[in-house]
Amino acid sequence: MTTKIVKIDGEHINLHVIEEVATLLKQGGLVAFPTETVYGIGANALNENSIKRIYEAKGRPSDNPLIVHIAQLSDVYKYVSEVSDISLKLMNKFWPGPLTLIFNKNATLSSVITGGLETVAIRLPSNNIAKAIIKASGLPIAAPSANRSGKPSPTRAKHVIEDLDGLVDMIIDGGKAQIGLESTVLDVSSSIPVLLRPGSVTIEMLEKEIGQVLIDPTLIGEHEKITPKSPGMKYKHYAPKGMLAVVYGEDYLAIKEINQLVKEKEVAGYSVAVISTDEDKEMYQCENIMVIGSKNNGIEIAANLFKILRKMDEKGIEYIYTKAFSEENIGMATMNRLLKAAGNKKICL
Ligand code: TXA
Ligand code: MG
Repeated sequence: MTTKIVKIDGEHINLHVIEEVATLLKQGGLVAFPTETVYGIGANALNENSIKRIYEAKGRPSDNPLIVHIAQLSDVYKYVSEVSDISLKLMNKFWPGPLTLIFNKNATLSSVITGGLETVAIRLPSNNIAKAIIKASGLPIAAPSANRSGKPSPTRAKHVIEDLDGLVDMIIDGGKAQIGLESTVLDVSSSIPVLLRPGSVTIEMLEKEIGQVLIDPTLIGEHEKITPKSPGMKYKHYAPKGMLAVVYGEDYLAIKEINQLVKEKEVAGYSVAVISTDEDKEMYQCENIMVIGSKNNGIEIAANLFKILRKMDEKGIEYIYTKAFSEENIGMATMNRLLKAAGNKKICL
């Protein structure tokens, strides 16, 4: 299959291209497009064949459900059996934006999209291009992150092209995905909401609106025997090809340890890299130092993480070391993705 690649400027949207995308989606096609979190592969959520094509293109296990993207809040009522007061509060506050809510589904959507579950994930994105595409199609759009299963989510069209060229009908290049980590996933299908995937809508922001929010136990600690409620969270994810380890400890000790590890591996002939904050970069002794942003700017660190993980593969890096970042605010999401990328390999000093 030849994949058509088209640029769209989010500030001056070319409506002819949007119409072309909408037609393709109505005909059952797959189109990758930017959202404010990461790029997604969109398909008609009402068409089982299109949904199956998404799973094939991603190489994704069929029990891992997809998020249904809608163009306006009221569309949620078409696909769910109940909207609680808590959900309504959250939708009014955070939609459009990077929050996915899990509801009990009604019979409109096929269980192919929900991986056989009785619940469905719904999100109303805020990115102009995503909104225009969903609205023009007049359809609910299933859109998982536009990476091959297991790889870091794409934050730029270039990443999507690396993974999906020849596997989807069209890729829209709409520039950089602003947030760079996938949406927060919150299960509101039972009385107390449960955080299933941390994102830029933080637990503090959620609790400020609705009071207590539980955290899925697999997000904290190493509950390897419990299956996460969000099926996607149980799969190996985001992993670069090289071995990544996250070092916990006081700044001075952690940097000393990383320099020691780098030296051992470089001497043994491996290619090694360090992920560093702006503030620490002069302290490392390593051939490849990749700066992720200022340690005082968690938003910048989040936005650059996946790009840097992909860079490691491009450069053929075999060992990667990083200090743990702050877990405050969006840092919880950053550390969740980083530890998954590391296969939970922690060095605690
Ligand atoms: O930011 C995002 O959410 C991006 C953009 C493209 O919108 N999409 C995205 O989709 O990250 P995906 O498919 O890569 O991740 C969806 C996550 C998975 O971990 C999946 O298991 C979980 O949401 N999920 C979907 N439906 C669910 C359900 N009914 N119950 C529990 N978890 C669900
Ligand atoms: Mg994904």
